[in-house]
Amino acid sequence: MSKQFEKVHTQQQYIALVEEMIEHDKHYYDECMPQISDFEYDQIMHELLCVEKEHPDWALPHSPTQRVAEGPTKGFVQRDHLVPMQSLANTYSEKELSDFVNRVYKLLEKKSVEFCCELKMDGTAISLTYKNGYLVHALTRGNGQMGDDVTNNVKKIKSVPLMLKGSHIPDVVEVRGEVHMLLATLRNLNAQREEEGLEPFANPRNAAAGSLKLLDPHEVAKRKLNLVCYAIGEGQSPAATQLETLHLLKEWGFPVSRSEHVALAHDLKGIWSFAEKIHQLRDDLPFEIDGIVVKVNDLKAHDILGATGKTPRFAVAYKFAPEEAMTRVHDITVQVGRSGVLTPVAELEKVHLAGSMITRATLHNADEVKRKDIRVGDMVAIEKGGDVIPKVTRVDFSMRPHDSQPWKMPSHCPICKTPVVHREGEVAIRCPNMKCVGQCQRRIAWFASKHAMDIEHMGERVVEQLVEKGFVLRISDIYLLDAEKLSQLDGFKEKSIRNLLGSIEKSRKCPLSRLIMGLGIKYVGTETAELLADHVHDLDHLLRIREEELLKIEGIGEKTAHTIAEYFRDPDHIEEIRLLLRHGVEPQKAAKKKISGHAFFDKTFVLTGSLDQFTRDEAAQLIKERGGHVVGSVSKQTDYVLVGSDPGSKFEKAQKLGITILSGQQFQKMLD
Ligand code: IVH
Repeated sequence: MSKQFEKVHTQQQYIALVEEMIEHDKHYYDECMPQISDFEYDQIMHELLCVEKEHPDWALPHSPTQRVAEGPTKGFVQRDHLVPMQSLANTYSEKELSDFVNRVYKLLEKKSVEFCCELKMDGTAISLTYKNGYLVHALTRGNGQMGDDVTNNVKKIKSVPLMLKGSHIPDVVEVRGEVHMLLATLRNLNAQREEEGLEPFANPRNAAAGSLKLLDPHEVAKRKLNLVCYAIGEGQSPAATQLETLHLLKEWGFPVSRSEHVALAHDLKGIWSFAEKIHQLRDDLPFEIDGIVVKVNDLKAHDILGATGKTPRFAVAYKFAPEEAMTRVHDITVQVGRSGVLTPVAELEKVHLAGSMITRATLHNADEVKRKDIRVGDMVAIEKGGDVIPKVTRVDFSMRPHDSQPWKMPSHCPICKTPVVHREGEVAIRCPNMKCVGQCQRRIAWFASKHAMDIEHMGERVVEQLVEKGFVLRISDIYLLDAEKLSQLDGFKEKSIRNLLGSIEKSRKCPLSRLIMGLGIKYVGTETAELLADHVHDLDHLLRIREEELLKIEGIGEKTAHTIAEYFRDPDHIEEIRLLLRHGVEPQKAAKKKISGHAFFDKTFVLTGSLDQFTRDEAAQLIKERGGHVVGSVSKQTDYVLVGSDPGSKFEKAQKLGITILSGQQFQKMLD
């Protein structure tokens, strides 16, 4: 929504707002790409609820107020929740919280009630069902009654226990929690998406929800999702209170909030002071929260309190308003990424927001600027909801200068002046010139960064100068630098020269996986780089690698295999790697921790079906650690086929060839 929403007075305005919200729901749930902030969304939802209460005859049956959450997604099986997944009523003020507390007192006929106060994690809800202690299903909330079965994806989240430990575990138990993404991970993911010409995620929740719905579990693993659990399915908790439930979840092996982020309160005052304390902490948390959740601590009271419509009466969310500031856009500049993607950036008049001074905000891409109609000279609202990345949420059109012009992406690269290109099906607009100084600078900075070669003292500013002076125009030039060249850089004296040359020298013997990361191959993050480094004998092998061979590496999917093979077919890339070797870079293969003498040593495994005890990646890792190999297809050379539930044709082939079949349990027994 590009304008601030106005209060509804007429039926027509109500209908228009419903239609607008249906569109927003589509962007939010189907595309995981909202166009308005959560706060604006909640405000409009609140307005719709008020209008529908006041004019029940206007209420449309398809109004977004009538649905709990997203519907099913294509590509996943839908399953019924054991117990419907409700959502929480939201409050935005102390007064609304006080109404909640008083209603609880009244309904329970008590003057004092214990409340458990928790963080409201900003992620996406997940329901995990365990049978006899093993994870059997993971469902998204879906419409509250039925959710998408995302079990295989959830098994890729490292903190999700596949097997429970501890006491009082029911035979069947449903655990609820929030799948989320750390802000640092989101920042990296968005930077990568922008490089790839994809729309960045607006917040960790969309990133988490979008990631859970990826069709390839290997891709999910790369997203590094997290879990925090906060409940056991209604009526199933062996504990008497919510706080005890959290302790029990921890004992069973679930990640729960840290104890300083949970508090018992006995009245509104206690709840409010927890809310204030958490609000203060918010900017320093490594993850995003959008408020707190207040729950009646006694679980028996939950039954007595019941629910209104789709929200329970035992709990409520108190949501923090995002911090917002108004400032002027004095320019819109364009940055060139390492693969040539052009990103518009709002250059802002300095403004304080949520503890930091903001001067720039990414506008992501030309579509976004157009959608929000952001122009040079505009007064804009910027928001930073705990998130580190400030975003421009809207324009104050009443303040727009009369002579302002819509912003347009330049037709030529701002750095090298090559005409830009817009590939079909991509949001991104790119500079196609691989030799563009802007791109070179970014590629070199990426190579030296801590994600890749980790060359200390070679930050963006240094790289900028090295490129400007023509000392480093391709990554291999880094290894031709000497004291004479470095002495020409601003502020470079004897000590800084020695430091930088020292770290360049050190990087010559880097782990192979870091060098692979440094090449900046599309879709290749740390994990894939490590898989590749583990698989190949040396760089020469990597240069000759074919797509078919890559596909056999457990953990590398089709899309990634294709881009890797494509990368190493490009003569420019081959030349660059040859130059690195010629200039004395000697990447090291990580020494494998082989347990020679172990039953798996030098044995070849094929994995098929899903295992209860491990994800396939975990099983592959366990095999490799013991000196075994994992390959993608069954042949006479295969020693073992590890079979889980719903195995594929590999199982049949193994039976035909008479290869030893291992169940998950047999495999587990053989591990030690
Ligand atoms: S309790 C009846 N506790 O917020 C639902 N929810 O709008 C009980 N959430 O669907 C949920 N942190 O996805 C609960 N500490 C917490 C939470 C939390 C985040 C999410 C969850 C839920 C939504 C409610």
